[in-house]
Amino acid sequence: MGLNRTQRPQPVEAVRWLGDRLELLDQRKLPDETVYVTCRTAAETATAIRDMVVRGAPAIGCAAAFGMTMASKRGDILSDAEALLAQSRPTAVNLFWALERMRGAQDPEAAAVAIFTDDLASCRAMGLHGATLIPEGARIMTHCNAGALATAGHGTALGVIRSARDAGKNVSVIANETRPYLQGARLTAWEMVQENIPVTLIADNMAGHLMSRGEVDLVIVGADRIAANGDTANKIGTYTLAVLANRHGLPFYVAAPLSTFDAKLADGSGIPIEERPAAEMTGYGDKRWAPQGVSVRNPAFDVTPADLITAIITEHGVMRAPGRESIARTLAIGRLSTL
Ligand code: MRU
Repeated sequence: MGLNRTQRPQPVEAVRWLGDRLELLDQRKLPDETVYVTCRTAAETATAIRDMVVRGAPAIGCAAAFGMTMASKRGDILSDAEALLAQSRPTAVNLFWALERMRGAQDPEAAAVAIFTDDLASCRAMGLHGATLIPEGARIMTHCNAGALATAGHGTALGVIRSARDAGKNVSVIANETRPYLQGARLTAWEMVQENIPVTLIADNMAGHLMSRGEVDLVIVGADRIAANGDTANKIGTYTLAVLANRHGLPFYVAAPLSTFDAKLADGSGIPIEERPAAEMTGYGDKRWAPQGVSVRNPAFDVTPADLITAIITEHGVMRAPGRESIARTLAIGRLSTL
């Protein structure tokens, strides 16, 4: 069972299910090359997630679900396959959410396809809800890549921007480069250029300067895990941006599907933060610029406290000043809608 045309997002396809194998757009090679990596087993899928072939919380969840489908079709030991996938990356809860949803699925292929198509539908719904928050002519700052590349399609934060554009608004994007892995410079800039959405690239440390000059109207980002009180883990540097937005009186929006919420965590202090290899800090590709012997920290995510978030946009609407109660209510609506 492949995906039919209407289930398949256009124009960027990060995750392609072909019925017997998974194709992942190799995001390590963007924007220079658009090539796909083929996975035929859960182990290959786990390696692709760990090595950043596929990245972005919802896309990781979709890939893991198809990894479990392949394990089940091959007759592999499902608990081993699940353990491998669960070890691939720690922060994005969508991975664990997808593995839980796959556990015990009667028809694993149909379950994985549903995870994928639901994510695409959620992104489109978030786009429609979020677009109402975007003023005509808005200059929108975003961080990392929360676009089609990071989801089943359309994107979360970039989905809101796409939907605002589709609603006829003239919007422009300020993409933070997102040190050290450069998801903003390589991926968000690429997605926006592909679609002729005006985009300006800046280094992360230029954000405050642009805000202080009145050159930014709002900030919108995605999320990797949102605790029950609204504390939000996202790409490293997001917290700094939220503080800056607060200082400058700018709205700071988070767009994320319900699969990104972790109701089991009371607040953000319990969110596991991935530490990535030192080599990402000491250089890039073959180029090394830091001296041998220097010690390095490379946390890949940070946590933005809920009180710095103006609103969280989900597929069920806009939660202003998000907190325990509004989040519990929205999660309950989500559970009802899947019954
Ligand atoms: O390390 P990455 O590239 O997987 O980090 C991705 C992010 O931080 C995204 O902002 C987040 O996953 C939301 S994607 C819709």
